[in-house]
Amino acid sequence: MGVPLRSGNVIKPSEMTRLTITTFAGVFLGFLIGVSFPTLSLTKINFPSSLFLSIDLTYIEDKHSGLSTRKLFSALSSLKDDKVVMVASNKSEKTKIWIPTNPRGAERLPPGIITSESDFYLHRLWGQPSEDLTIKPKYLVTFTVGYNQKSNIDAAVKKFSENFTIMLFHYDGLTTEWDEFEWSKRAIHVSVQKQTKWWYAKRFLHPDIAVPYDYIFIWDEDLGVENFDAEEYIKLVRRHGLEISQPGLDANSASLTWAMTRKRDNTEVHMDTEERPGWCSDQHLPPCASFVEIMATVFSRDAWRCVWHMIQNDLVHGWGLDFALRKCVEPSHEKIGVVDAQWIVHQGVPSLGNQGQPVGRKASWQGVRERCRKEWTMFQDRMTAAEKAYYEAVESNPF
Ligand SMILES: *[C@@H]1O[C@H](CO)[C@@H](O)[C@H](O)[C@H]1NC(C)=O
Ligand SMILES: *[C@@H]1O[C@H](CO)[C@@H](O)[C@H](O)[C@H]1NC(C)=O
Repeated sequence: MGVPLRSGNVIKPSEMTRLTITTFAGVFLGFLIGVSFPTLSLTKINFPSSLFLSIDLTYIEDKHSGLSTRKLFSALSSLKDDKVVMVASNKSEKTKIWIPTNPRGAERLPPGIITSESDFYLHRLWGQPSEDLTIKPKYLVTFTVGYNQKSNIDAAVKKFSENFTIMLFHYDGLTTEWDEFEWSKRAIHVSVQKQTKWWYAKRFLHPDIAVPYDYIFIWDEDLGVENFDAEEYIKLVRRHGLEISQPGLDANSASLTWAMTRKRDNTEVHMDTEERPGWCSDQHLPPCASFVEIMATVFSRDAWRCVWHMIQNDLVHGWGLDFALRKCVEPSHEKIGVVDAQWIVHQGVPSLGNQGQPVGRKASWQGVRERCRKEWTMFQDRMTAAEKAYYEAVESNPF
């Protein structure tokens, strides 16, 4: 057991040779740069950038103090990203890296090493990292689940191809139980007890982590998917340019609150509807258009980046979000819509909604309901206040 661990402390002869060669190459290159500056424009030399990264900058600095460090750094950076590289003009501090255009907090790092985004791709523990992935899923689907709904989720997951990363948020603490399903082994499991879909989404789906995915499905567990195919769905949202969407709800759904999300026949998608008289002040506004519900929402990458920022950490039920989604896309009545050709049944299984705390004579679900309504009002109030503050600031400080 100790053997592989200890071997890390010993520099093997072959490694020694490599080190020496690297150092030598660095010295030589440094010398080259030193003598050729400024008559030779560095940016025009086609050095492989990996070679550049192995140069010991401190060494160059010490031996060629006449060299313009600023020029060297900007030449280096132009070989990498287009980021501006700045160093202190004070000589004794020259070798310190401080790059204001780096992500906040990472100014001391050379831009080439910065990895500011991530993904949910699984890697092996052995072999070449570049060969770990046989397929890079382009879409992400998350379900917020309790084990009671396992057969429903199993059926749903099977409607999503291998082009999807599957992620389960477990609100009941049961995770390994899902391993009876073959797909569970490649799924991402997040287990935190009694939290809501939007709570998980805010914590685990930061836009910089969900960034490899063209579309992100954030779904409930009680959806019937017999007439749904995810790949076909994506073709339709692409074709119609929908940034935020949901599948149409079949007439057999448990609750059909809104006309907008009801499935229509003989059409691929729809983006507006007639509501009950008096419900829509504007035909382009919710609930007549620019509107989907939050049970089976699908976001494009860009839409999700905006919506994530709108989700409040403490308003966990997400009530009010549906009416506000339109603030993230423009023009919203053309980019938010319902896909009729791929549709689902909302089964309305009470699940997490039953996991509240009974208070006095009130059942646990009543407490949850009340909280939902309260959150809806709080969200509206915050949005109104935020917009008011913005417009007041603009008025008092015109450009
Ligand atoms: C350069 O930096 C050193 C160390 O921070 C400082 O002591 C010195 O005064 C600085 N010199 C100038 C010219 O700013
Ligand atoms: C997965 O994506 C690739 C590339 O877009 C596509 O060719 C393939 O048909 C997709 N797989 C399924 C099952 O649709």
